[in-house]
Amino acid sequence: MKTVSVIGLGNRGTEYMGFIKGFHSKKAKIVALCDISQQALDDISPQYKIPKERQFNSTDSFFAEGVLSDALIITTQDASHYEITKAAIETGYKYILLEKPVSGVKDEYRILRDMAEANGVILIICHVLRYSNYYSKIKEIIESGKIGDIVSVNHTENVGYFHFAHSFVRGNWRDEFTSTPSILAKCCHDIDLIAWFIDSPCVSVSSVGGLKYFCKENAPEGAAERCLGGCKAKKNCPYDAEAFYITDPFYKANSSNI
Ligand SMILES: NC(=O)c1ccc[n+]([C@@H]2O[C@H](COP(=O)([O-])OP(=O)(O)OC[C@H]3O[C@@H](n4cnc5c(N)ncnc54)[C@H](O)[C@@H]3O)[C@@H](O)[C@H]2O)c1
Repeated sequence: MKTVSVIGLGNRGTEYMGFIKGFHSKKAKIVALCDISQQALDDISPQYKIPKERQFNSTDSFFAEGVLSDALIITTQDASHYEITKAAIETGYKYILLEKPVSGVKDEYRILRDMAEANGVILIICHVLRYSNYYSKIKEIIESGKIGDIVSVNHTENVGYFHFAHSFVRGNWRDEFTSTPSILAKCCHDIDLIAWFIDSPCVSVSSVGGLKYFCKENAPEGAAERCLGGCKAKKNCPYDAEAFYITDPFYKANSSNI
């Protein structure tokens, strides 16, 4: 039985933990958890029977214990990946699953790559789409030669309006200086897939964009600072947080808006 620790018990971390528990419980077991949110630790630890002494509310206290498991999953927010992964390698972890993107700073990416190589660490980045049936099939078809030589790939991942508002307007990726820009936060998957499909490393990337629509000057009449702050424009607003998260928790999934 292999053991796994997880740093970052949010959306992604708990999803991976669920996979381990639900599909691989004979092969692997979660043994230690770390999150700066005490609430997250309190909520999730009992589900995995993690004892108090294996619950950590800072990475400093987590790494101070040395290597606690065969593998480590790092699923914190983008800006913290570099420091946490560096500390993990320095502590002696040999199998690390790190959420994308590695870093928004090229030198940090290179340092981690070099550290992993020098220390014999298997550092895997969660470009998860490669492992989905859909994209695996595309890869299989390309490799089979059935459709001939690939001379160009046009690949677009559309971001739904609810996802855009949730993540890139008011959410974790609202500010590229505290997280990462779209080219990394979203398009890193496209770049990864394209390079993988054609089996050739990426040579250059360009990106354009800017704040255009979600600006104060475009706010509808009567809009409040926040959706729950007495907004007079919320009735037909497709971005109303109250509808998103409280009254219509399925993101209007049945609506023709999507
Ligand atoms: N591979 C994919 O397809 C995919 C999809 C979505 C998000 N992501 C990436 O996954 C990562 C996590 O995203 P998420 O949506 O789960 O975020 P989230 O905000 O839901 O979860 C992050 C968790 O990390 C904790 N945390 C933050 N800083 C910490 C620190 N220094 N030490 C310990 N815990 C800390 C937070 O309290 C939170 O519980 C991001 O880097 C994101 O870009 C990847």
